[in-house]
Amino acid sequence: MRHLLSAADLSRDDAILILDTAGELGRVTDRAVKKLPTLRGRTVVNLFFEDSTRTRISFEAAAKRLSADVITFSAKGSSVSKGESLKDTALTLEAMGADAVIVRHEASGAPHRLAHSGWIDCAVVNAGDGTHEHPTQALLDAFTLRHHLSGGEGALDGRRIVIVGDVLHSRVARSNVLLLHALGASVTLVAPPTLMPVGVDTWPCQVSYDLDDALPGADAVMMLRVQRERMNAAFFPSTHEYSRRYGLDTRRAALLADDGIVLHPGPMNRGMEITADVADGSRSVIVEQVTNGVNVRMAVLYLILGGRAETDVWEMSA
Ligand code: NCD
Repeated sequence: MRHLLSAADLSRDDAILILDTAGELGRVTDRAVKKLPTLRGRTVVNLFFEDSTRTRISFEAAAKRLSADVITFSAKGSSVSKGESLKDTALTLEAMGADAVIVRHEASGAPHRLAHSGWIDCAVVNAGDGTHEHPTQALLDAFTLRHHLSGGEGALDGRRIVIVGDVLHSRVARSNVLLLHALGASVTLVAPPTLMPVGVDTWPCQVSYDLDDALPGADAVMMLRVQRERMNAAFFPSTHEYSRRYGLDTRRAALLADDGIVLHPGPMNRGMEITADVADGSRSVIVEQVTNGVNVRMAVLYLILGGRAETDVWEMSA
């Protein structure tokens, strides 16, 4: 059984295989009939315990383009709101014949638990767990970067990527640091000290508290959403103060390399971590990230459910 639980499990070669496959499958997306028969007869369950727009729809589009049957489950309106456990929910899905479960959960480690509990026997893909990881987001970001930074296998080698904002609550930041590092990029995290996680010094990246210092000449900047729903205290004095020190505006975006690009996983707080003119400006690839997300998720589903039955390279811990 193979799963995609964490970017930490992906080697450079694994990542390149997924990105190259996404590129191939992306050609289908450009056709009038956006469908391949690859996963006909397979069932993919979208199991979302936490709110999501992009990721849920993206997995659904990806599975449908590969002709899988898709069941979308959201905790709201289900028996989870009656107190049903993750285990019982999983057993129900298994009993319905799911081949893969895409899971988003507010608890870090929930997908790992599902994959290793022995409760179910199908593939598990992590679509974001608590503040831990969001591997398909990192893959779609790497895909987007590779496309813009002149393509090819080594496109990210030696490139400088700055990731800015609420690193403490971000699963996107951790997955990106791990994956971009594996792909040869040099990553700098920038955040106020209160929003930098304990132990960040062990991550394979640089750390800075000064955005104006980190941006000059960078190939890309990735802005993170300030995740107020995960904050139970005041992490910065005011929205205005946050934007002044850590927000991306036109002046700061101009500090990037000439062809430097701006990413954001969405949803954005326009006017807080990013101004509207930068979000909609010529350096922004934010809408393209969404398109690439479908291609990357098609590749993940294809490789897990369709091809390469002989390996289990996506999971180090058995
Ligand atoms: C991110 C997430 O859910 O972790 N969004 C996403 O998947 N597109 C980031 C966020 O919520 O800020």
